[in-house]
Amino acid sequence: MTSLPERLDSPERLAAPVAILAELTHRCPLACPYCSNPLALDPREEELSTSDWTRVFSQAAQLGVLHAHLSGGEPAARQDLALIITHCASVGLYTNLITSGIGLTQDRVRELAQAGLDHAQLSIQDSDAPSADRIAGYKGAFARKQAVAEWIVQAGLPLTVNAVIHRANISRAGKMIELAVRLGARRVEIAHTQYYGWGLLNRAALMPSRAAAEAAIAEVEALKKTLAGVIVIDHVIPDYHASYPKACMGGWGKRGLNVTPTGKALPCHAAETIPHLEFWNVRDHAIVDIWTNSPAFNAFRGEDWIREPCRSCPRKTIDYGGCRCQALALTGDAREADPVCHLSPYHAKIAAIAAQNEDAGGAPIYSYRRMKQREPAE
Ligand code: SF4
Ligand code: FES
Repeated sequence: MTSLPERLDSPERLAAPVAILAELTHRCPLACPYCSNPLALDPREEELSTSDWTRVFSQAAQLGVLHAHLSGGEPAARQDLALIITHCASVGLYTNLITSGIGLTQDRVRELAQAGLDHAQLSIQDSDAPSADRIAGYKGAFARKQAVAEWIVQAGLPLTVNAVIHRANISRAGKMIELAVRLGARRVEIAHTQYYGWGLLNRAALMPSRAAAEAAIAEVEALKKTLAGVIVIDHVIPDYHASYPKACMGGWGKRGLNVTPTGKALPCHAAETIPHLEFWNVRDHAIVDIWTNSPAFNAFRGEDWIREPCRSCPRKTIDYGGCRCQALALTGDAREADPVCHLSPYHAKIAAIAAQNEDAGGAPIYSYRRMKQREPAE
């Protein structure tokens, strides 16, 4: 075993990340308009190879990472998924497959379970089939997902159902939790849309009214009590109707790292939107080197970069000033307090954006997430 750099081995040591989120591919049969992937999706021909990924997972495990979230896009679009899971299991990583379910067969689910998969997280778009298929941009997705959930449970894998909440499905938040129970999930994650990537592009079509958001929050919180012992409900409340921001990623460079399909290591999924950050690639640097020394991971560590009102605020050790990417998107400067915070001088902007959608009616018109052909190089 190679020795760890001094910073990871000293008394005031930088803790090792808990989790790695591996975006194995940006390919996906679905086209969800709230996808947090970047608008410029990585093309297949530039994806990391199987041996690149196995090296990354070995290095992550050696650094102390415990969880490998296998995500995308749709990770099942990679034919080497079972090999990757086998490798993760062999180096002691707990594997969580984050999947749309589309493209999986019962045999494939069995193969992944036998390879050592520990847990599966299946997305649903709605409890109403026509609406679910419209949101996913894929006819038949709803029916297929019911079958995939059954195969996951039959394979003995613990199942979590993920549902992203927005204007088109917010009135059925409770129905989606009931659906998760019927599908045999042990846990359901009800997450109001976060406006990054395609979600930011589609913000006007996705944002619910304040009244709808408050009704959904109350419904989900009530179900948490009545369904205690039946299913665990994780509830991510909507940013734009909150007074305090979330501690995005549990703090920048504190708990986890993302690796893109082409190998860029990011402190969060939207970090590439922040200009002038330098991202290192797993093709050129070991994970331990990236975690301790890469400029992007060190950009918002510690407190030197923190400005008022966060600098003198006691909550800065709880929420770290919120989300850097949201601060950038809404103020033009990633060092500002997240404007979700009512103490931010930009907070009124959030309220104004949320209010714009109060009167929105009719079926939302989406810009669906699609892979675009790249322009040929000159
Ligand atoms: Fe968090 Fe900054 Fe708001 Fe304080 S001022 S609650 S640290 S975002
Ligand atoms: Fe980048 Fe929140 S998504 S810090």
